[in-house]
Amino acid sequence: AVISKKGSHLVRTFREQKERKKAQSKHWELAGTNIGNIMGVEKKKDEEDSAVNEDGDVDYKKDKKFADLLSDKNTAVSEFARKKTMQQQRQFLPIFAVKEQLLSVIRDNNVIIVVGETGSGKTTQLTQYLHEDGYTNYGMIGCTQPRRVAAMSVAKRVSEEMNSELGEKVGYAIRFEDCTTENTIVKYMTDGILLRESLRESDLDNYSAVIMDEAHERSLNTDVLFGLLRDVVARRQDLKLIVTSATMNADKFAEFFGNVPVFRIPGRTFPVDVMFSKNPVEDYVDAAVKQAMQIHLQGNPGDILIFMPGQEDIEVTCESMGERLASLEEAPPLSILPIYSQLPSDLQAKIFQKNKDGVRKCVVATNIAETSLTVDGIIYVVDAGYCKLKVFNPKIGMDSLQVFPISQANANQRSGRAGRTGPGQAFRLYTERAYKNELLLNTVPEIQRTNLANVVLLLKSLGVQDLLQFHFMDAPPQDNILNSMYQLWVLGALDNTGSLTKLGRKMVEFPLDPALSKMLNVSVEMGCSAEILIIVSMLSVPAIFFRPKGKEEESDAMKEKFQVPESDHLTLLNAFEQWKRNSYGSTWCTEHYIHVKAMRKVREVRQQLKEIMDSQKMDLVSCGMEWDVVRKCICSSYFHQAARLKGLGEYVNVRTGMPCHVHPTSALFGMGYTPDYIVYHELIMTSKEYMQCVTAVEGTWLAELGPMFYSVKDTKQSRQERKKVAQASMTKMEEEMKEAESQIKARKEEA
Ligand code: CDP
Ligand code: MG
Repeated sequence: AVISKKGSHLVRTFREQKERKKAQSKHWELAGTNIGNIMGVEKKKDEEDSAVNEDGDVDYKKDKKFADLLSDKNTAVSEFARKKTMQQQRQFLPIFAVKEQLLSVIRDNNVIIVVGETGSGKTTQLTQYLHEDGYTNYGMIGCTQPRRVAAMSVAKRVSEEMNSELGEKVGYAIRFEDCTTENTIVKYMTDGILLRESLRESDLDNYSAVIMDEAHERSLNTDVLFGLLRDVVARRQDLKLIVTSATMNADKFAEFFGNVPVFRIPGRTFPVDVMFSKNPVEDYVDAAVKQAMQIHLQGNPGDILIFMPGQEDIEVTCESMGERLASLEEAPPLSILPIYSQLPSDLQAKIFQKNKDGVRKCVVATNIAETSLTVDGIIYVVDAGYCKLKVFNPKIGMDSLQVFPISQANANQRSGRAGRTGPGQAFRLYTERAYKNELLLNTVPEIQRTNLANVVLLLKSLGVQDLLQFHFMDAPPQDNILNSMYQLWVLGALDNTGSLTKLGRKMVEFPLDPALSKMLNVSVEMGCSAEILIIVSMLSVPAIFFRPKGKEEESDAMKEKFQVPESDHLTLLNAFEQWKRNSYGSTWCTEHYIHVKAMRKVREVRQQLKEIMDSQKMDLVSCGMEWDVVRKCICSSYFHQAARLKGLGEYVNVRTGMPCHVHPTSALFGMGYTPDYIVYHELIMTSKEYMQCVTAVEGTWLAELGPMFYSVKDTKQSRQERKKVAQASMTKMEEEMKEAESQIKARKEEA
């Protein structure tokens, strides 16, 4: 029951809601645990006890008392917050109280760990404090974020606080979007950007200080940066490195950098009552909507934050809440605000806007709102208990996003969001038993669960020969490294000795996944780099076609106009070419149900990749309308992701025999055209394995371009035999690589 059932949300009347209210409150049990220390509002012990009757049910009376407590104290707080100027707000943050102490510890130490509750001011204030203390006189202050959304929104906030235009004194950089100038002194960026910068400038000489923010998230890039920066600070005595973390993992970080000091920002949090669901929840979307509506209709002040695993669930939740609200005559207004990474940034910004005339906000978020973004005024948290994680899936040989139960650490962070401005309540849509027995203490770091091909490529090009010796905080499983090396070898980026090939060296230059990067590189010789450049750019932005409700048929008909029967890649190319022919117009996009913003982004991405191509002396050559060449070029980099027709419209993976299906959005779906072989860009796992973005290829191309997997002659060979051959080739490569590595080591020792 991991995936929620959708579309089954009944619209209920106000009266029904009222009647259900009392029954509903019985579904929760009070955990008796408060998160955070009590400040500002005292909560008496007896109150807490009397709230729990014999069955452990929540007593309704308690809710009322609690409500009284909230209404006078908390409105006072938020009134104040509303009236405060930006400078007053800055001084109100917990970090402000310890500013001088903190700066003095930084002066005395090159590396420090800063720990503080979410919302204490680490991300927005630390950069400014360092600036005020003179560090920008001899370099930039960089601050890394695991998430793009956070980098952008925080840069915007800080530029306002520093009274400067975004992109001037304060800027941000994320992949394909550099919003900085030469005047920029405070730069927020994703950790991936800093990692790439270290390729060009291994000592990060442009920076006087680097803040690695949100380190507790343990994102893949942050973990790699840990290893690299550890050496940089050893080489550069003038560089300050500050690692920040919400309350987890601090001692581990301190130890990793050689027992450096940990500075703790005293918290200012309010108690949060944590309620667990009494019984396992069948449909968390439905349960969350009910819970949020109940809170809303009770009428006590305070904003609501709902945690959902991903975009689809967020959309369904928002829609369902909107419908319910509309069906109630007497319901007070509610502003329902989704937030997830793929949401356009103008919509993202809405969650920070102050609610007008006391209209309650209900933010529906992914784990992005767990620690990276702070929304003030949240009093209620509803936690579905799941998140999406990228994991390497050995079954399909690649990463996929999957829904997992959160960890206990996540759960506590989420609940804690309710206690920032006053005492709050957190409703967990899972049982206390599940929390204690089924949830991990901490989430497994990304480096231990995802494909490392990109990291391997990057580290190899930084001259790290032996990856098994690299100083990781938590080393990835050895199999994982070898697997990733094998993939790079298959693509031709590594040779049999595990060293970068000429192609591999060129691939590193592009901020793309290895296969896309290879495709672009190969396309020059194949004479279709102009076309492939567009396809790669199209694949690097969110979906460009949209399908509005009620207009499904019209938008599908429009999309069909662009469809190239044998390829989704070519369909994308075709759409771009037609847009170009129509002078890159925006009306044209709207008429054709294409996101104009996404298309503009495609042009930007294309331009940036083109610049890298220029710097690498890679020519832009067009194959005209000879699009078969384009298909072959796609095959050259995606042959490892191929499927073969088996029976009526059914495909199986050529290497594993696993059944997989053409995605309904594909040009090849249900058109009666079923080529013998196709390659796919990615697999999406929902109820079935779906291949998304597919292109028809020739069987002979597969044999020619992917000889380590396929050959024309062995059609009679059983799958078992083929598997054996593939396994043997992998083992051989591993042995050769190990051999080469030990030789290199031996040579080094001699020297
Ligand atoms: O990093 P940390 O969680 O310690 O706190 P922060 O992100 O620096 O947030 C400090 C304060 O700035 C919060 O109370 C937010 O309300 C405010 N803030 C904001 O209003 N808009 C943003 N985009 C980011 C932060
Ligand atoms: Mg922060």
